[in-house]
Amino acid sequence: MDTIKYQLTDDQIPTSWYNLAADLPQLAPILHPGTGQPATVADLVGIMPKELAEQELSTEREIEIPATVRQIYAQWRPSPLFRARRLEQALGTPARIYYKYEGGSPAGSHKPNTGIAQAFYNKEAGIRRLATETGAGQWGSSLSLAGAFFGLEVKVFMVQVSYHQKPYRRALMHTYGATCVASPSTETAAGRAILAADPDCPGSLGIATSEAIELAMNDPFTNYAGGSVLNHVALHQTVIGQEALRQLDLAEDYPDIVIGAAGGGSNLAGLAFPFLGEQLRGGHRVRVIAAEPEACPSLTKGRIAYDFGDTTGLTPLLKMHTLGHSFIPPAIHAGGLRYHGIAPLVSQALQDGLLEARAVPQTRCFEAGLTFARTEGIVPAPESTHAIRVAIDEALRLKEEGRSEAILFGLSGHGHFDLGAYERYLAGELMDEGFDQERVERALAELPTPAGS
Ligand SMILES: Cc1ncc(COP(=O)(O)O)c(C=O)c1O
Repeated sequence: MDTIKYQLTDDQIPTSWYNLAADLPQLAPILHPGTGQPATVADLVGIMPKELAEQELSTEREIEIPATVRQIYAQWRPSPLFRARRLEQALGTPARIYYKYEGGSPAGSHKPNTGIAQAFYNKEAGIRRLATETGAGQWGSSLSLAGAFFGLEVKVFMVQVSYHQKPYRRALMHTYGATCVASPSTETAAGRAILAADPDCPGSLGIATSEAIELAMNDPFTNYAGGSVLNHVALHQTVIGQEALRQLDLAEDYPDIVIGAAGGGSNLAGLAFPFLGEQLRGGHRVRVIAAEPEACPSLTKGRIAYDFGDTTGLTPLLKMHTLGHSFIPPAIHAGGLRYHGIAPLVSQALQDGLLEARAVPQTRCFEAGLTFARTEGIVPAPESTHAIRVAIDEALRLKEEGRSEAILFGLSGHGHFDLGAYERYLAGELMDEGFDQERVERALAELPTPAGS
């Protein structure tokens, strides 16, 4: 029999997270927005526990995973690595295609890898409630799951357009015991100000983040939990790539190309950073490709600048590829990719030539998602279809060139709550939103100038 899945045992769940910052000395510091000075742990503890603030600023290469977190990971980790043999056949490609599937977690994506860790540290710190943003609801439902496990209240601000597009994600959050409101909401000053200016605002991850941070800043027992972008979130996701390295060992293979969908950058970071770490320490070279939406292309069209992580300007300043914190992306169905910036670590890796980025339109992504569902059986999340699109394009290029290379991509989540979007695609109702240069120019004109620069 040909091997289809490469599996590890529970005791092979990684014991530490891998921190790429240790191998990227040129990474720009996070700045305090008031002083323009590098942020300290003390600056961050107003909205997150000390352990997470320390991880955010850490340059240690390995950070131990607490035993309680590893124990919970064991419910769905190690996640399977699949060889996409039927997809390879359908494409007629000599490429060897592998995918690491994170959709087997209880919430259906990679997001619980950090949700569980963040809930653990917050519970230890005596916090009672976590506030967060969510796009399509993958992160909100993951943090809601973590809140249920640790006895923490969870308040989720869900981007308005996704709140209506994905009603069952909302129901999933409520099922786990969380509360979820559409953002912009009337519950925060940030939300009210945005609604006053634009009552029909579709929302964005930046706006929902402002609302969640505002709640955390105003209540000592509420902290903010971020679903992406932040260094400690990328860190927690590195269990994905570390497992994939061992699984490819079982397959006696090594990827030439590693591909991930990029919203805030966390699943791409989680899959690719352990491979980049090997490369930076003298191991195999890999091509890493970030697949982002054409309608919200921070890596391919954004400017490298210090910017806020949220729309209102409550976060520290992050140096990243950004379309401007006030940019509100069009209402594409990959709600988790509608973010104006990208993780500073991913941004630095792009600047250092460690990864490439490619922007893809949503209809070509759904087309790839359909091909994948009909060959491999798993219906991918709209976000994940971006990685599949690029993987298929690379496999077809190799076919044309008559070369066999190994491709590894991240299947970051399933699309069972996104079937409405698939129906719209099948009915020919989904359009490409394109890239609005003018709106981005306007948003870029509002970039902050760090004090003292
Ligand atoms: C399934 C899935 N993949 C990818 C993403 C993009 O986020 P990130 O770039 O942080 O992995 C999301 C975000 O919600 C998601 O739900």
